[in-house]
Amino acid sequence: MYRTEKISEVKEHVRKWKREGKTIGLVPTMGYLHEGHGSLIKRAREENDIVIVSDFVNPIQFGPKEDLATYPRDFEADCALCESIGADLIFHPEPEEMYAPDFCSHVGVETLSEHLCGARRPVHFNGVCTVVTKLFMISEADRAYFGQKDAQQLAIVRRMVRDLNYNIEIVGCPIVREEDGLAKSSRNTYMSPMERKAAVVLHKALSRAEEEVRQGEKDANKIRRIISDIIEEEPLAKIDYVEVVDWNELQPIERIDGPVLVAIAVFIGKVRLIDNFIVE
Ligand code: PAF
Repeated sequence: MYRTEKISEVKEHVRKWKREGKTIGLVPTMGYLHEGHGSLIKRAREENDIVIVSDFVNPIQFGPKEDLATYPRDFEADCALCESIGADLIFHPEPEEMYAPDFCSHVGVETLSEHLCGARRPVHFNGVCTVVTKLFMISEADRAYFGQKDAQQLAIVRRMVRDLNYNIEIVGCPIVREEDGLAKSSRNTYMSPMERKAAVVLHKALSRAEEEVRQGEKDANKIRRIISDIIEEEPLAKIDYVEVVDWNELQPIERIDGPVLVAIAVFIGKVRLIDNFIVE
């Protein structure tokens, strides 16, 4: 497996692979890889001749009060995981390699960024769209793999690709969970053992709500209430949002009568966790 920090080196490999007629799958990550990322890399491995993993904590998608400085990193462990799955190249640039001092171009997606995490993290999705665009251009990938855990990110990237005619297929992959149901996340490591136990409340609440939706409940407020009531029983949990939105435009709805995304963000102590389910 090749490792490089240089855009020019990735492009050199890509040129050669393209000349050989190979298909390229890209898995964009911020590193500190876990089984959720592993499942994306495996899927990319199955569907492409070449697999590129990017491992870059993208500064422009963090707000000034967010966890950029403390975001967990372990590049050697990331390389070991990528190698064990059979990735061909891991791209690990420094911020200066990605952003020139006078960098001033950004990509953004409007309507879909208005609610959920977009409402609370104002610069986040423009930062994501911008870095993802750069990674698509650098890797010339045929397909890129994103987890459904970041459902709003997945929807926004899909819309950007459709609206702006990018030549890439976006593949959404299911959420990977711990045995007790907690969605895998690099941020799970921030929690104390007590907080970690309390964190199962997200999955508990969503499972209960999903059952109701699948049994035909149409009242979105009732779904919001079921989730809030369960989470509020957990003393270490504080709700950031509980939202029921349509799975096309990500706008809040009153009645569920089409594809729906039910998404939550909850603080467990100081750690902000997100989780969701989609009923198509
Ligand atoms: O989901 C992530 O880890 C990041 O938002 C991404 C897509 C790698 C862009 O930095």
